[in-house]
Parts: sequence; C-alpha cells; structure tokens
Amino acid sequence: MIANLDRSVANVIDGVIALQRAIHADPEIGFDTVRTAARAAVELRQAGLEVQEGIGKTGVVADLIVPGATRKIALRADMDALPMDEETDLPHKSKNPGAAHQCGHDAHTAMLVGAARALAPLRDELPCSVRFIFQPNEEALPGGAPAMIADGCLEGVDRIFGMHVWPLLDTGQIGLVTGPTMAQPDVFRATIVGVGGHAAAPHGCVDPVVAGAAIVNALQSIVARNVDPLDSAVVSTTQFHGGTADNVIPERIQLVGTIRTFKDAVGEQVRTRVREVTETVAAAYGCRAEVSMQIGYPVTVNDPDACDEAEGAISPAVPVTRDVSPSLGGEDFAYYGQKIPAAFLFLGNRDESQGIVHFCHHPRFRVDDAAMPLGVRAWLALVQGARRG
Ligand code: NI
Repeated sequence: MIANLDRSVANVIDGVIALQRAIHADPEIGFDTVRTAARAAVELRQAGLEVQEGIGKTGVVADLIVPGATRKIALRADMDALPMDEETDLPHKSKNPGAAHQCGHDAHTAMLVGAARALAPLRDELPCSVRFIFQPNEEALPGGAPAMIADGCLEGVDRIFGMHVWPLLDTGQIGLVTGPTMAQPDVFRATIVGVGGHAAAPHGCVDPVVAGAAIVNALQSIVARNVDPLDSAVVSTTQFHGGTADNVIPERIQLVGTIRTFKDAVGEQVRTRVREVTETVAAAYGCRAEVSMQIGYPVTVNDPDACDEAEGAISPAVPVTRDVSPSLGGEDFAYYGQKIPAAFLFLGNRDESQGIVHFCHHPRFRVDDAAMPLGVRAWLALVQGARRG
C-alpha cells in the first residue's frame, strides 16, 4: 500500500502546490469564497466526482461513490482567508489588500482537492464512499458549517474528519487529541458609562476610563480564583476604546474580549462571572455597565472511536502522535461533531530551519511546502484504511 501511496501522492502533488499558490495569491473572506470554490469544483469535476456548488451559500460538496459501499465518510476543508495583511516575501503573496491566507485554509482546500483527484481512479478498491466538503466562513461567527449542514452536507454520512495545519507540531507528523480538542470561543462586550467632563475637574465627573482599567484587572481574577484549577479557561480583554482628547474625560468607554473554555459548565460560570465582575466593579466606581455576550462555536470534541479509526489508518503512512495538547482556539468543525462522530487532525507545520515558526493568524505565518504531500498522504491513507462498509 505504501508504494501505491507514494505514486498516488506523486501524481497529484504538483497540482496541489499550484492550487495552494493560486488560492493563496487570491484570498477571499467569509462567505465570499466564490473564485476559490470554482477552482476546487473544476478540478473535482475533471476527476469525475459528483459535484454540487452553492451548498451553505458558497460551499462545494463532491461525492466519490464506491459501488456496493453502504458506508460514507466525509473529509472537510475550509476555504476562507482572514481580514488582515500578510507580511511574507513569498512570490505568491496575497494580491488582495486586507485579505490573506494566514490560517492555511488555502492548503486545506488544495490538499483535499488533491486527495479527491488521487482517490477517484481507485474508486473500485476503496472500502467506503467518500464525501469531500469545502466550506466557507470558518473564521467568523456564525461560521460556515451550520449553513452547510442545513443544506444537507451530512446526509448519509457516517463519520467526518477535518485537518488543520498546526505550527505547534513539527512537519512530518499528525497530531491527534481524543475528546475536547478546540475550545468554545465566546465574545464579551461592555460599555462603561460614567459622567464626562473637563479633565482638570475629575471631581465633577465619573470617570469610566479608571473604572475600565479596574475592570480589566478584576476580570483576571476569574480564571485565577473562580475556575477549578483542573479546568482550562482564558479571559482576554482585547479591546479598550474611549476618549477623544487629552483634556476630556469621556462619558463612556468600550471593552471587548474573548472567553475560551472546554466545558459547558465552565463556560457558563465564566460568562456569569464576567458579567458580575464588570457590573459590580463599574458600580463601585460610580459607573454603569452594559454587558453583552456572543456565544461562540461549541467545543470541538474528537470522538474516541473516530480517533482510533484515523490513527489506525494513517499511522502506517504518516507518524501519528497523541502527544499534542488541545487548543484554546475555536473551530466551527465543532458543529459537524455535534451531529455525527468526528475527529479533527493537526498536520505538523513547523520547521525552524526555514523560519516556519509563526502560529496561525500571524502576519508571517506560512504553510510548509513539505507538509502538503504529508497532508495528502494522510487523507489517502485514512480513506484506504477506513473500515469497510
Ligand atoms: Ni483555521
């Protein structure tokens, strides 16, 4: 099987890298992944798959139907870029200002297209049918997965797998976590309202800037003093907006931040405490707080049996390590896992000798060319080694 794998990967890898370069140079954000989806759809049709476009607004679903198979597994890639600028000197650097593939979704799409092209000629030998899912809008709430699911992308599918390039793991291996693997990312927003006025007369004002500073500090006590030390949680205040002049105490300021948790009960506890701390500290400073919460993607939970199936199939072809930590990043792959057994794989994407060390969303993050053939290889091994049905 390994010799065949080598040949299958070799047959498609030039096309995979060319597709990744093309998508990287022309990034699209959110649900506006029209050109990316079209590029994928063309290659999937050329490979002889049954292709549906416009699923979940701008997603693509392609089926490789294996004659006689009753089981179907799905493999999922995301297609969207981030609303940011890239700071690399790559020849295929983003040519679209304010958009860049700094999370590697260009590679996810290209690798999955390559896997589909490599698997199509082998259809009669495969143990089960395969659905290839290409979704938009992974990076922004409400995510792209719910719309894909609403359009039926999981109908008839027994199990789903996803893969993400992972700069915390050296290139050359796949990382796998059983159970909670990505966090729930909630957003809190607070407006702190005081009484504005002349900065030379603070006694005549109620200063929301000072209250806001106290709130930012007090919020740090939630993880330290309220959450069970054996559970994980993050509270990060990431925006603090207010004021227009050096001599004006503003009437109000805004705070925005993120809450990351792995358990529903911990998430509920932290959201409640963020609200209480913000309101009561504001009150202690004579201000009023208006707090709102935006509930993020659910926790991404890897099904133990789906992990075992993936590890058993992939490990003869690409080393699989369980020595990898869950991430407090969020991932809308979680929605698929709420419907059917799912496993989300981390594809090693780190090589210090090439300076490939930046985490996803960093302006100098980049995909390791050496990781892409391994990602394709892992997809092929997963399908060829999947349980027959
Ligand atoms: Ni991502």
